[in-house]
Amino acid sequence: MTTVLIPGSFDPLHLGHVDIVEQSVELFGNVVVGVLYNHEKPSGLFTPDERVELASASLADLPSVRVDKYDGLAVQAAVSAGADFIVKGLRNPADFDIEQQMAHMNHSVAGIRTVFVPCRPNVGFVSSRFVREIAAQGGGVDHLVPKPVAVALADRFPASLR
Ligand code: PNS
Repeated sequence: MTTVLIPGSFDPLHLGHVDIVEQSVELFGNVVVGVLYNHEKPSGLFTPDERVELASASLADLPSVRVDKYDGLAVQAAVSAGADFIVKGLRNPADFDIEQQMAHMNHSVAGIRTVFVPCRPNVGFVSSRFVREIAAQGGGVDHLVPKPVAVALADRFPASLR
């Protein structure tokens, strides 16, 4: 069975990511969700371990999916994960512009191909950045993220700040 790596920051995982994971299970079989980070540049709302925990809890119903963290390049993560391909979800032409260059770079340095999967239209506007920004200012994002992420965001930004 084919194994694919879906790399990303997943800070945090949202329903657009879940859509790409579900489609990848249907298309390829085994899916590794790779939380990529750089230990020399720690950043983000959630730590890499927290992101793994939240994504694992959110994707627990999908048996052929595992979540892991990887320090470094996407191609190194793909090799460590035993992936045949990298999968990237595309929301819009701007995503394609960025992802096409990364796909060519990754193929040229490591021979690993990237497959693009268009997201379902109902989640094409969701991004982790805007989820973080809106949640931090007290806006409602529960309809955009899986339940474990909604709980973690509510915990991180208590009602008193909303
Ligand atoms: O969720 P994001 O932030 O859009 O994910 C981007 C990510 C982490 C997949 C991308 O920045 C990446 O692949 N980073 C790892 C470093 C790397 O491989 N750089 C070379 C890209 S050609």
